[in-house]
Parts: sequence; C-alpha cells; structure tokens
Amino acid sequence: MTMTQEVIKQYDRYVMNTYVRSPLVLTKGKGSRVWDVEGREYLDLFPGWGVSGLGHNHPWVTRALRGQSRRIIHVPNNYYHPLQARAAKKLTGVSFDGKVFFCNSGAEAVETAVKLARRWGEGRYEIIVMEQSFHGRTMAALSATGQPKYQEGFEPLLAGFVRVPFNELDAVLRAITPKTCAVLVEPIQGEGGVRVASDEFLAGLRRLCDERKLLLIADEVQTGMGRTGTWFAYQHSTVEPDLLLLAKTLGGGFPIGAVVARRAIADVLVPGTHATTYGGSPLGCACILAVFEAVEKQKLLERVNALGRYAFKRLAALKERAPVVREVRGRGLMVGIELTIDGRPVVDACRAKRLLINCTQDRVLRLLPAMTITKAQLSRALSILEDVLMGLSH
Ligand SMILES: Cc1ncc(COP(=O)(O)O)c(C=O)c1O
Repeated sequence: MTMTQEVIKQYDRYVMNTYVRSPLVLTKGKGSRVWDVEGREYLDLFPGWGVSGLGHNHPWVTRALRGQSRRIIHVPNNYYHPLQARAAKKLTGVSFDGKVFFCNSGAEAVETAVKLARRWGEGRYEIIVMEQSFHGRTMAALSATGQPKYQEGFEPLLAGFVRVPFNELDAVLRAITPKTCAVLVEPIQGEGGVRVASDEFLAGLRRLCDERKLLLIADEVQTGMGRTGTWFAYQHSTVEPDLLLLAKTLGGGFPIGAVVARRAIADVLVPGTHATTYGGSPLGCACILAVFEAVEKQKLLERVNALGRYAFKRLAALKERAPVVREVRGRGLMVGIELTIDGRPVVDACRAKRLLINCTQDRVLRLLPAMTITKAQLSRALSILEDVLMGLSH
C-alpha cells in the first residue's frame, strides 16, 4: 500500500466524510509549489482555496509565526495586545474609517455582520442576499447563501434572508420592505462561478442603501487583500461599503477573519453583545501584519495587475481557439473559465499533469494563483491548461 492509500484509508475510517477530496496527500508547500507524500511536485493555482494568497509558507508569515509563538501565543480579549491594535489600524487604513472585529473564519465574519446589521436595524432584520452567492456553512451564513443545494436537509433556516438575482438592481428595489436592514453582496461571486458585479449594480446598491437607510455589506472573504489587484474588489468601483468581511488571504494561511465596520455602525456592538475566544490572537494578528508587509513591500498589487493582464490576454486567445471555452471572467488574479462541458475531468486531467486548479458550478474552472506566483510558473500553468482544453476541443 502506498503512503497515499494508507492516509486515505485512515480518513475513510476516522474523518467525517464532508468534503469531495482528490486523492492527493499534500505534505509540503513553498510559494506556488506543493509536494505530495510520495514526493511528487505540483504547481498550485488554487492555493488553499484562496487562503494561501501569498503562496504557501511565505517566509515573512512563517517568520511572524515563529517570532510571536516565542513571546505569547494567545491573549484573551479581556486584556489588550499591541498587535491587534496595529492590525486593526492597518485594515482601516486601506479600507475606510471604522473599527474592526476579529474572528476566525469567513463564515464567522458573516455571522458577525448579520448580528451587527440586526442590532443596528433596531427591529428591522431582513437582509437582501444574491442568488448564487456563497457566504459559508454556519447557520446564519448558510441561510444567507443563495444556493438551495447547500441548504437542503438543514431547514428551518434562519429567517430574514431575501434572495434576489445578482446584478439586477430593480429586483433589489422590489425586495426592500420596512423590515429590511441590509444588502449583502460579493463584489465578485467566487464559488458562484466568478461572476463580477457590474459597476452600475454596486453604485445602484450604494444609492439604494443610502436612500433607504440600509447597510451595504461587502463579503470580500475571497476577493480581499489584493486578489483582484486592489486591496479590496469594491475599490475598482466608486462605492464604499458600510461593512467589509474578510478572511482567507488575510492571515496568509493562518485561520483568521475580520469585519471592518464604519465607526458609527461599529459602536452598536458594546461589551457583552458579541465575542469569540480566539478572535484577534497575537499569532493571527502577527500573520495579518506580515501579509500587509508582503503586499506593500513586495508590491504585490502591481504584480497582480500585471500578471492578471497577462493571464486574461492568453485566456482570451485560448477562447478563440478552443470551442469548449464559453467565457473567461474575473479580475486581477481571480479567474473563471466557463466551459460548455463538465469541468471536473479538466481538473483531473490538469492534476495528472501536476497542475492543481478548481472547478465550481460544474462548468466554471476557477484559478486563484498566489499573488507571488512567477510569470514563468503562471505561463507553465496556462500552457498545461491550454493543452488540456485544446485536447477536449477536437
Ligand atoms: C465569499 C465567501 N464568503 C464566506 C466564505 C466562508 O468562509 P469560511 O470557509 O472561512 O467560513 C467563503 C468561503 O469560500 C467565501 O468564498
């Protein structure tokens, strides 16, 4: 029995079967490369489902983890720690004037936003959400998610989420009732198929929210921290949200989430109204600061823009040649390639050629390359993908 088979056998016996897994046991990562337990090397164009946005084991993140773990790993939130203050200052510095609540995951950021919006709403509790959105698996986040397939078997869901088609402002307008307190939107739907919110839609949402006194909540768990070429995807538009939800790349691999709220809104949560034991731990905040340092000093936003332009140009050319490619969408280094066929065999064929990618919504190949990926690596990955897709086009 190979090591791979042995580990999979143990999972089958001892680990809950909640994930669709590829038969790959990964034990090491560096930048855009990962190695499996058999010593095989892969090019990872979907590192950590967006978590490892700086690449695997970015040296500044591992340095931060090592250094901080020697001092103190955890400080509970009934005391203070300087790094939580610094991380919050950095986050508001690149977004908007406000305050931060730290948590541990994307779903928990969504939960926080739902509680904050309801408390701010003073009796208004409905939140307008988008079809095909994805906000996580805990009960409020699941209820907010606009995809019934994830909700089946878990009813009754949390009440108060009103679903409308994405990018349709009129539908949002029609869905507003005297009970509405907020609109929740991903500026680019990730799991929903890399679908980009139009500038008009975001601007329209902002206008509606201002007119009707609703909170505009941007779920940037997947798009945040530089992925699309700006710190946050909403910054491609003229619109600023009231709440900004973050996780994934924020911790450079370390599990951490955050909600940035405009100052007056943030003040609705007072001691005793919300908490999480691990939120904003020194270890997590050291990682956030390392991520900021890397994005700024290594000029990763510029890199994302340059490499994104390169990738989209090559993919546009591929679309002309490969009839199985229906549409190429996204921004920066967030890429969706919609096919006319099932994408899973493409993912498997790429893996056989030592390239890791993702497929969502059955037919949309999703690439979230590390912001540190080299042009040579990106080019090699695209060549593999081109080969596979051209092969399927004949
Ligand atoms: C936009 C968005 N929001 C929320 C989540 C949930 O994050 P987590 O899995 O960390 O709970 C995800 C996860 O993919 C996401 O893409």
